[in-house]
Amino acid sequence: MKIITLLAQKGGTGKTTLSIHLAVLAAARNLKVVIADIDPQQSTTFWNERRTDSAPDVMPMTASTLKQNITELASQGVNLLVIDTAPHSHEDAIIAAQLADFILIPTRPAILDLQAIGSSVKIVKSIAGKAAIVLNGCPFPGKNGERAIVSEAREALAGYGIPVAPVAISNRVALSHSLIDGKAVTEFESESKAADEIRELMNWINQEAHLW
Ligand SMILES: Nc1ncnc2c1ncn2[C@@H]1O[C@H](COP(=O)(O)OP(=O)(O)OP(=O)(O)O)[C@@H](O)[C@H]1O
Ligand SMILES: [Mg+2]
Repeated sequence: MKIITLLAQKGGTGKTTLSIHLAVLAAARNLKVVIADIDPQQSTTFWNERRTDSAPDVMPMTASTLKQNITELASQGVNLLVIDTAPHSHEDAIIAAQLADFILIPTRPAILDLQAIGSSVKIVKSIAGKAAIVLNGCPFPGKNGERAIVSEAREALAGYGIPVAPVAISNRVALSHSLIDGKAVTEFESESKAADEIRELMNWINQEAHLW
């Protein structure tokens, strides 16, 4: 079983949105996928309550039971566990990061978000985890490619020494709209640019982390 942990000590960077989207895509490839919702806000669990499909499975957990839960899920043949973590949860975030094969840190491209990423990077470095940063909520690319704010964010992030996903996830209403009905954008508007970006991100993560 492979484990991806979505980590960002800052709130609202896209941990839940990306957990759901990556898990739905993996489940659509016939992997047995579970999202571990260790955020007391339980956003992923509420999404699952609105969902009609049974896959991926969403299980509310706490950091203290995570290790035991992982052993059980692995023995049940789960292929991929996606851990959605809470913001401002230093201790829990360390546990979830330690257990991960791959840690994904979403950040928005704005300066305040970029400055806040330091604490998440510190966690990753303290455990020598394999990790990447993904820019989320970005302005759409224009005719000439990425907007300046996105390429400037890449430059600012280069100093952390952690790879940044080549695809930036744009701010697209379909990404949040799809969640209202308990879906992901790849189900809700599968031909959309938003769905393309999510697929591109998943493919890149898979290359980095060899998920299947
Ligand atoms: N790329 C995007 N395009 C449009 N809306 C987005 C995008 N990413 C996230 N959002 C919206 O931004 C809000 C915050 O996203 P999300 O809940 O995924 O962040 P989070 O990191 O899980 O937050 P928290 O730290 O509170 O758990 C949500 O309303 C979500 O629908
Ligand atoms: Mg969340």
